Amino acid sequence: MKAVVFHKPNDMRVETVEDPSLKDPRDVILKVTSTAICGSDLHIYNGFFPQPKPLVMGHEFMGVVEEVGSAITNLRRGDRVVVPFPIACGACFFCAQGLPVHCENSNHKHYGPEGGLLDQKGGALFGYTDLYGGYMGGQAEYVRVPYADVGPRKVPDRFSDEEVLFLTDIFPTGFSGVEWAGVKGGETVAVFGCGPVGLMAQKCAWVRGAKRVLGLDIEPYRLEMASRSANSETINVKECDAVEMIRSLTDGRGADVCIDAVGMEAERSLLDKAKNVLHMEIGTINVLKMCLSAVRRGGAVSILGVYGMPYDNFPIGQIFDKGLSIYTGQALVHRYIDELISWLEEDRIRLDDIITHRLPLAEAPHGYEIFNEKKENCVKVVLSP
Ligand SMILES: NC(=O)c1ccc[n+]([C@@H]2O[C@H](COP(=O)([O-])OP(=O)(O)OC[C@H]3O[C@@H](n4cnc5c(N)ncnc54)[C@H](O)[C@@H]3O)[C@@H](O)[C@H]2O)c1
Ligand SMILES: [Zn+2]
Ligand SMILES: [Zn+2]
Repeated sequence: MKAVVFHKPNDMRVETVEDPSLKDPRDVILKVTSTAICGSDLHIYNGFFPQPKPLVMGHEFMGVVEEVGSAITNLRRGDRVVVPFPIACGACFFCAQGLPVHCENSNHKHYGPEGGLLDQKGGALFGYTDLYGGYMGGQAEYVRVPYADVGPRKVPDRFSDEEVLFLTDIFPTGFSGVEWAGVKGGETVAVFGCGPVGLMAQKCAWVRGAKRVLGLDIEPYRLEMASRSANSETINVKECDAVEMIRSLTDGRGADVCIDAVGMEAERSLLDKAKNVLHMEIGTINVLKMCLSAVRRGGAVSILGVYGMPYDNFPIGQIFDKGLSIYTGQALVHRYIDELISWLEEDRIRLDDIITHRLPLAEAPHGYEIFNEKKENCVKVVLSP
């Protein structure tokens, strides 16, 4: 089959690889019909997360069941499903508590309690480095789905692929930021980052009844997308002091909730890059720091953007003084996906209006390039195998 294979940073290739096959009675093989490139894939593409050997990428995918393991009773050949990006057994200590991303059974080799830099990670993710299980991903014609009695959800026929594909990751991720921060209605929610995840968080904040939703970014075309697709008020972080701007819009207090949908790959100055070397750090916590300043006392910050490293000068004193609640982690997709399917069925939210590029799988390397370098006003790339 054809698949998108990571070789080394900035080197994605579409190649012929071995077809996946059933390895466990709880597996299914899916014929992928649509798959997307995620901002998290860029951390591998840009070398922020190491991957020593070639790996089939992709954790946002959906398709049609092709083969069914002998223990699977909930799915049949021909069923059309979306698949959560974390791989979870459904039965361990953490799965039983609704924490599928910490599954104790999916990531045998590199799982552990510590959450270290290069060892003792959480549960496995599709197509997301050996440290997260080394599973082949879904940017491919076919993919093996383990624990298929736990993850995949059948989707109603009336929806197109594009209308439901983001149930696999960015929709539940954006929702997680809003849910964790306790948005119930009437809040001002400031979302840093108007990439796919930030846009989903903004849309979810409205559905949850936010009074005001602010979208912040440094790219004018992404701010324009936030105002068009999420109806947010936008702030260009490059053109003003964003923290002061948010305070001035909230009687000097700051936003009730700030969401970091940028992460460690935020744009940074040459001076910051020099400091990286000095502190042996990769990337930056600049956006997280802005969130901590822009949130009101007693408020909540959800960190959806990925951080992979420890950082010096972490403002724990400010967090203490302001009495902030901080929430973070991989999205709990299995836990939220059924509620979010009902949002789609009730027409409470639209997801496909953030898609800017539809490409055949063969053009995935170009898709990675324009998404990473923000060329061609790219916001979200969907690939068709
Ligand atoms: N927690 C999870 O489960 C989960 C799931 C999916 C993605 N993510 C992470 O969420 C983050 C965003 O993902 P995405 O797909 O939207 O990626 P993206 O790279 O398209 O979006 C990031 C956005 O941040 C903007 N940005 C950069 N520097 C900025 C700054 N200083 N201030 C404000 N905005 C800035 C960029 O212009 C871009 O629009 C990534 O780190 C990704 O890995 C986390
Ligand atoms: Zn993702
Ligand atoms: Zn488990």
